[in-house]
Amino acid sequence: MATMGAITMSTSLMPRMSSSSPPSSSPSFTPLESPTPSLSSLPVRPLPGSYGLPLIGPLWDRLDYFWFSGQDKFLRKRMDKYKSSVFRTNIPPSFPFFKKTNPKMIAVLDVKAFKSLFDMDVVEKRDVLIGDYMPSTSFTGNMRVGVYLDPSEPKHSQVKEFCTDILKRGSKQWVPELLTNLDTMWNTIEKDVTEKGSSTFVFPLQKAMFRFLTKAIVGADPLPSLGENAYISFDLWLALQILPTQPINILQPLEEIFLHSFSYPFFLVQSGYQKLYNFIKTEGQDVVRRGVSDFGLSEDEAIHNLLFVLGFNAFGGFSVFLPVLLGNLGNDQTGLQTRLREEVRSKIDPTRPISFDSVSELELVQSFVYESLRFQPPVPAQYARARKDFVLYSHEAGFSVKKGELLFGYQPLAMRDAKVFDEPERFVADRFTEWKGGRGLLEYLYWSNGPQTGSPSSANKQCAAKDHVVFTACVIVADLFRRYDSFVGTSGSITAIEKAK
Ligand code: HEM
Repeated sequence: MATMGAITMSTSLMPRMSSSSPPSSSPSFTPLESPTPSLSSLPVRPLPGSYGLPLIGPLWDRLDYFWFSGQDKFLRKRMDKYKSSVFRTNIPPSFPFFKKTNPKMIAVLDVKAFKSLFDMDVVEKRDVLIGDYMPSTSFTGNMRVGVYLDPSEPKHSQVKEFCTDILKRGSKQWVPELLTNLDTMWNTIEKDVTEKGSSTFVFPLQKAMFRFLTKAIVGADPLPSLGENAYISFDLWLALQILPTQPINILQPLEEIFLHSFSYPFFLVQSGYQKLYNFIKTEGQDVVRRGVSDFGLSEDEAIHNLLFVLGFNAFGGFSVFLPVLLGNLGNDQTGLQTRLREEVRSKIDPTRPISFDSVSELELVQSFVYESLRFQPPVPAQYARARKDFVLYSHEAGFSVKKGELLFGYQPLAMRDAKVFDEPERFVADRFTEWKGGRGLLEYLYWSNGPQTGSPSSANKQCAAKDHVVFTACVIVADLFRRYDSFVGTSGSITAIEKAK
């Protein structure tokens, strides 16, 4: 067994909250025993790994990472070779055209070492959202928006508190807007399944998410002025920024030649971005004004930060996470749908609209959402630069890290750390339930760039919407099982739907 120590649970699983804000996901529980010996008893060793020969090493590693092995195998091979979950390696983008980007990093692949990435005393988060590579600031109005700011920079607090305020103020509209747009989405999917036998749901899903998030965050409906396909502007704007760091896995070697060798310029997506900017400036006046008057941002800073939070964080995050969530349900063969449906129908009053409050009663639904976030973390990599020399501890040893070195935390492997998660390679939908003794594991669930038991604040870099994301996903699952008895599908399409009888 790989689970750590005994967990004593409190009987209250979730505190009851006002219906408009998401309940905190911090359960009350007696902390787990430390999975490893105390730090002082661990040996401090030299960091294993190598960066290879100049130019050839980074180029070879880049091809291996994106092409020959793929990310997971690339890292697992080295983890086995060095017998360590912390080691030196190149991570692309790199040679030949990314001359200013330094691929030399320290891979961090276990739960314990990963925690150092959240310790703002020892690491800095300045300009490292997607590694040493940073897309041109022309994508964000020629400014460094909040996600690129370190908590030591005063503007970080202004932007993060602005974002927290937006979420708080928008929370009354959040669930009703979500449900309205889900209604439209499911109608389209049902029609496709009836007429064509299947529905590729990514576009209806993105349409629904874009409209719901814009209404909840900006407070204005994008449909009348921008039309129903405006979300595509965000897709293109997002893709161009992150392409050099993302494996696409379809068309090698063209992918290496055309997508991972250079960065694309902003002007290709400028007109779509400008339309979104104009929309927020004219129709999101209230929220922009609050950014200016209450948080000391300039109008331009408020708008570009809103665009980033809406397009990159919120729309981008949900566009990755929700297909995975639906896929985990649609292809399940274990009877999970029946169990979830029974929980939803027995615990939620059918005569009342679903709310964050009502889904806080759904322990299995929540656990299923947490397990989906563990099994395939939507944002796989997090980076942080050593603020000073320090010792980074894995389960087995400490490693001296020098000031300025870049840590590369890779969640898909850290979240399968066998020292923490029992049967880590298996999707266990009730892993995080009280009856399974798994609520304490939330401390080790890191998808939001921090523990699920942590609190996002201006002093850290944890996702401002940590609880909103979880409870939004719970509402989507609850809504689904109110509408349907079952459905069949993958993370790309739905092939059968059985309406609730
Ligand atoms: C499934 C959806 C989402 C996922 C997977 C996600 C994930 C993340 C992650 C991993 C980070 C840390 C990035 C880093 O510094 O390395 C982050 C930061 C952030 N997220 Fe989210 N997020 C999601 C949705 C949202 C939403 C809906 C909002 C707001 C409406 C939001 C607002 C933010 C903000 C403002 C930050 C920056 C925090 C800071 O600079 O301190 N996110 N998110």
